[in-house]
Amino acid sequence: KILILDFGSQYTQLIARRVRELGVYCELHPWDMTDEDIRAFAPKGVILSGGPESVIEPNAPAAPQAVWDLNVPVLGICYGMQTMAAQLGGKVDPGSVKEFGYAEIRAHSQSRLLKDIEDRVNDEGHGLLDVWMSHGDHVSQLPEGFKRIASTKDVPIAGMADESRNYYALQFHPEVTHTTQGARIYSRFLHEICGCGDAWKPGRIIEDAIETVRKQVGTSKVLLGLSGGVDSSVVAALLHKAIGEQLTCVFVDHGLLRHQEGDQVMKIFADHLGVKVIRVDAEERFLRELAGVSDPEAKRKIIGRLFVEVFEEESAKLQGIDFLAQGTIYPDVIESAGGKTKKAHVIKSHHNVGGLPERMKMKLVEPLRELFKDEVRAIGVELGLPREMVYRHPFPGPGLGVRILGEVTKAAADTLRLADHIFIEELRRSGWYDKTSQAFAVFLPVKSVGVTGDGRRYEPVIALRAVQTIDFMTAHWAHLPYELLDVCSRRIVNEIPGVSRVVYDISGKPPATIEWE
Ligand code: XMP
Repeated sequence: KILILDFGSQYTQLIARRVRELGVYCELHPWDMTDEDIRAFAPKGVILSGGPESVIEPNAPAAPQAVWDLNVPVLGICYGMQTMAAQLGGKVDPGSVKEFGYAEIRAHSQSRLLKDIEDRVNDEGHGLLDVWMSHGDHVSQLPEGFKRIASTKDVPIAGMADESRNYYALQFHPEVTHTTQGARIYSRFLHEICGCGDAWKPGRIIEDAIETVRKQVGTSKVLLGLSGGVDSSVVAALLHKAIGEQLTCVFVDHGLLRHQEGDQVMKIFADHLGVKVIRVDAEERFLRELAGVSDPEAKRKIIGRLFVEVFEEESAKLQGIDFLAQGTIYPDVIESAGGKTKKAHVIKSHHNVGGLPERMKMKLVEPLRELFKDEVRAIGVELGLPREMVYRHPFPGPGLGVRILGEVTKAAADTLRLADHIFIEELRRSGWYDKTSQAFAVFLPVKSVGVTGDGRRYEPVIALRAVQTIDFMTAHWAHLPYELLDVCSRRIVNEIPGVSRVVYDISGKPPATIEWE
C-alpha cells in the first residue's frame, strides 16, 4: 500500500484515484501525520502531493522525518518536489513567472522513472512530454546525490532523482489527464519502483469488505437506511452478500422521490436481491408538515427532521439490533479529517440520518469508508446492481422538496415527477444522460398563459436544468442540442396537463447554484 501525504493541492484526491485505478491501495493523510503513524502504516512507497504554500516561507509544511527513514521509494509532486529538495539539502527559488497550464518537458539522462515514457522524441533523441504545470517556485539547486531528469524552457530542473535511494520528484502534475503519459509515470513508480502488485480490483475489494464486515458484526443484526442513492444501495448489496438475513433495511419514502423510484427500489432489493427491506410510506406525513412552508431552509429542516423521526420510529419496532450501517465514502472521510467545512460533508451528515448512532446506541458499520465513488460504482455493478442505478445522477436528500419552489404540494410533486421523467427519458434516449453530471426538472409556481387547441390555459412553468461538473462546486450548464430540448418541451406540455411552458436554465455555478433552492 502507498501513503500519500497531502500538502493541500487541489489535485491530491486525483493522485489517490490514479493510484487506485492502477490497482494499488493507497491512503491520503495530512502532511503532518506523526512519525509513529507513518511507521505503523508501513507503506511500500510515499507520494508527497503538491500544495499552495511556498517552502521558502518560514514554517512551511515539510515531510515528516519518518518518510526519509523508512527506506522506501518517495515521489514528490510539485510542492512535494520542492520540499524534498529543501529538506535534503538543495535550493528552491521563488519563480519570477508563475507557470500554469500546458508545458513541454524534455526528459534527461535516461532516468528510471521516465525512461521510454514520452509523447515525442526530438532531433537529439530526447523524450518530450506534454504535461500540466501549476506552480510558482522551482528547484534551483539539486540536493546531493540527485540528478536532473527533466527540464522545460523556463524551468531548468523540472524533475530530479536520486536513484540510489529511490527518491524521485516532478515539478508537473502527472495525475492530471492533461499530462498524457501520467498513468504510465505512476505505473512505473508504483509497479516497478515500489514493487506494488495490482490487486486492488472490484472483486478483491468486495472479498476484503465482506471479511471485514463479518469479523466486525459477528452474529449481530445490522440496520441500514436505504435511500435508493448509489452509496446506500451498494452498502445494502454488499451487506446482504456478507451477512444475509442479519441485515434489515428501512426505506423511508417521503413522497418526494422521482417517478416510480420507490417501486424500483423495492423491485431491485426486495424482489430481485432478496434483501429484507421495510418500506415506510410517509408521503402524507411529510406533505402535511410541509404545508404552508415556502422558505427553502425551513423546508430542508422539516424534511431532515421528519426523516430521522420516521426512521427512528420504524427501527424502534425492531428488536436486538446492535449496528447501524452507513454509506460513508472516502471523500467524506477526507473532508472531515481535513477539518474543511465542505458542503458535501454537511449534506452527507444530514442525509445519513446523522446523530442516530449515538441516540440509538448503535455501533457503526461503514464498509465503503475507504472507497472513492468510482470504486463504489464498480463494486455495485460487480454485486449485481443495475448499471443504470449505479451510474445515476446524484439526487438531493430533500428530493423534490427543493425542486418545487415555494410550497410543496402533492399536485406540484406529481406534475414535476412526470416532467422530470420525460426529461430524463429523452436524455437517456439521446445519449446525453451520461454526458451530463446532473439533470432535472424544476417546478415554478408562477403561472403563465398558453394556448392549446382552442383553449387558453394559465398554468405553472417547468424549468429544465442540466449541468456538467467534476466536483459539483462549480458547474457549466450543458449545451444540449436544440432538437433535444425541443422534444422535451413538446412532450412535457402535451403529455402533462397543468404545464403551460418549458424553459431551459442557462446559468453556470457560480453564480447560480445547481439546485434552484
Ligand atoms: P448546489 O445547489 O449547492 O448543489 O449547487 C450542489 C450539489 O449538492 C446537491 N444538494 C443537496 N444534496 N441535500 C442533499 O443531499 C441537500 O439539501 C442538497 N442541496 C443541494 C445538489 O443536488 C448538487 O448535486
